[in-house]
Amino acid sequence: MSEGDSPDLAELAKRRGFFLQSAGAYGGVSGFYTFGPQGASLKDNIENSWRDRFTLQEGNMEIDAPTIMPEPVFEASGHLDGFDDMLVECPECGESHRADHVVEDNTDYEEAEGLGPERVGEIIEEYELVCPTCGTGLAGQAIEDFNLMFETNIGPGSSSPGYLRPETAQGIFVEFPQLAEYARNQLPFGVTQVGRAYRNEISPRKSLLRVREFTQAELELFIDPEDGEGPDLSSVSDVVAPFYGVDQQEDDDSDPLEITVGEAHERGLVADPWIAYYLGVAAEWYESIGVDMSRFRFRQHLSGERAHYAADCWDAEAEVDGDWIELAGFAYRSDYDLSKHDEYSDEDYTIFKQYDEPVTVERPTVDPDMSALGPEFGGAAGDVADALEALAESDPDAFEDAGEDGSVTVDVDGESHEVPVSQTGFAVEEVTESGEHITPHVVEPSLGIDRALYTVLDHCYREDEVDGEERTFLELPPAVAPTTVGVFPLMDRDGLGEHARDVAADLRERGLSVAYDDSGAIGRRYRRQDEVGTPFCVTVDYATIGEAEDASEGAPGTVTVRERDTTAQRRIPVEEVPATLEALRDGELSFSEL
Ligand code: ATP
Ligand code: GLY
Repeated sequence: MSEGDSPDLAELAKRRGFFLQSAGAYGGVSGFYTFGPQGASLKDNIENSWRDRFTLQEGNMEIDAPTIMPEPVFEASGHLDGFDDMLVECPECGESHRADHVVEDNTDYEEAEGLGPERVGEIIEEYELVCPTCGTGLAGQAIEDFNLMFETNIGPGSSSPGYLRPETAQGIFVEFPQLAEYARNQLPFGVTQVGRAYRNEISPRKSLLRVREFTQAELELFIDPEDGEGPDLSSVSDVVAPFYGVDQQEDDDSDPLEITVGEAHERGLVADPWIAYYLGVAAEWYESIGVDMSRFRFRQHLSGERAHYAADCWDAEAEVDGDWIELAGFAYRSDYDLSKHDEYSDEDYTIFKQYDEPVTVERPTVDPDMSALGPEFGGAAGDVADALEALAESDPDAFEDAGEDGSVTVDVDGESHEVPVSQTGFAVEEVTESGEHITPHVVEPSLGIDRALYTVLDHCYREDEVDGEERTFLELPPAVAPTTVGVFPLMDRDGLGEHARDVAADLRERGLSVAYDDSGAIGRRYRRQDEVGTPFCVTVDYATIGEAEDASEGAPGTVTVRERDTTAQRRIPVEEVPATLEALRDGELSFSEL
């Protein structure tokens, strides 16, 4: 058996119904794919497994927000200004390329995005890099920022621009005030969402790995930054993974450190405990869906590489076709998003944090004498009073230093006004407070489903030889395989077909995904299921209906169960088939125990 080969996945994917380029009849458009019956089912199973691990088991809440949102959302989030990739256009053929990818593909630079457009332009010149399409030199071509969002108009006319969301996250952030209510204003709480996101990628490539419409599965965890307690790391602290920190990346002789999550956090390599926790959860989850952990690592972002909102970020990466690709990002987004929506919208994006005990604090206040300010400042008197209140809060020393006979200065509409302290009613009061408003910080595990699916297919692809014949199969874990059981009658005659259809119906009633196949030689039918990763097949033969002529064919009322990976077969009583197959799928029983 060969592992880690570089199969022509796109060909297998199309032939066997995993995925194909959309709208091929019209020439197709790069970056858009349709999932076929096997792919749609595999994708559903991966999403459901993610939902189980990141939502249900963690006690988080899942929401489902629109994919189009109005412009102000993206003005606030920073995507309108900052969600750009570097574009370079070929002077000869006019093809557009990602300038940083041209550099990465043709030099030793690995993370060119963080170098910035100027340096990338210099490298293109230094290395005399050429257009990947026609070979014309790109030196001297402008490196431009290209915004990746798809724009549209909401309703007729152009007065209400909207954008297809480039990340599902904003649909969670904008609803924070209401979501906090649902969580009874108790931090930490997590909100998840799985759904489509859209990016007008400059050059989509590598099949599903860089597309223009894809599925993200995101968790936004709202935490109190002052809460020293953090998560209980014990359930994941022993998970071992390769950690490729900034220091190891910057040192040419260093490899990723193969250490436990607990150690990575204790050493300060993964500083934030929530990020460490979710790296552990994610490593176990990726393994459970079929990612080969010997081709997996966590890599920390270099400083120039981080998104506009991220204070620290780790990526989960997998090796596919000789390249490391990003499967997921784990970002510490701090209070960036909530502060921005608080500033740009009319809503309050803070949470009231109750103290354990009420505390007494000194609060500077003013009580301006309007009978004096009115004649002095006329129509501006109200604004002067507001400015005095703001000054008392931000700089109480200004009043104290001036003394009772002095005056303070406030600015109103660009004009300075002097006000005698005696007219401000300045005082420092003692007040008892039961809590304070804080802006929660956000930790975000953001997983891409399409890249996970492609990686799983690549990592589970196997070739071996059975009975002298070459065989291709997908070693997908039973929990995510598109089909759990293939059911075949040995032949479609003598009542075998009816019995096999009954077996299939019983399995479907039990909630298992079944493929019924009665065409062609039995070996061919096994191969067809092997190729799409079906872990088990059940064959109904003459023994099943009690008419076996030869005792070696099995006891009456039994069927053959065959395992995909070893091709081993066992006979079990027909009435035990549904419970046995369910236990095999759920990992409660192993095939060798049959
Ligand atoms: P890249 O650097 O590869 O463009 P990114 O850093 O822009 O990825 P994020 O913005 O962190 O990606 O998005 C979170 C996740 O969404 C990624 O880890 C990836 O799995 C998925 N994703 C992002 N862009 C694409 C895309 N164009 N096609 C498929 N999946 C994507
Ligand atoms: N939500 C993370 C990203 O898509 O950039």
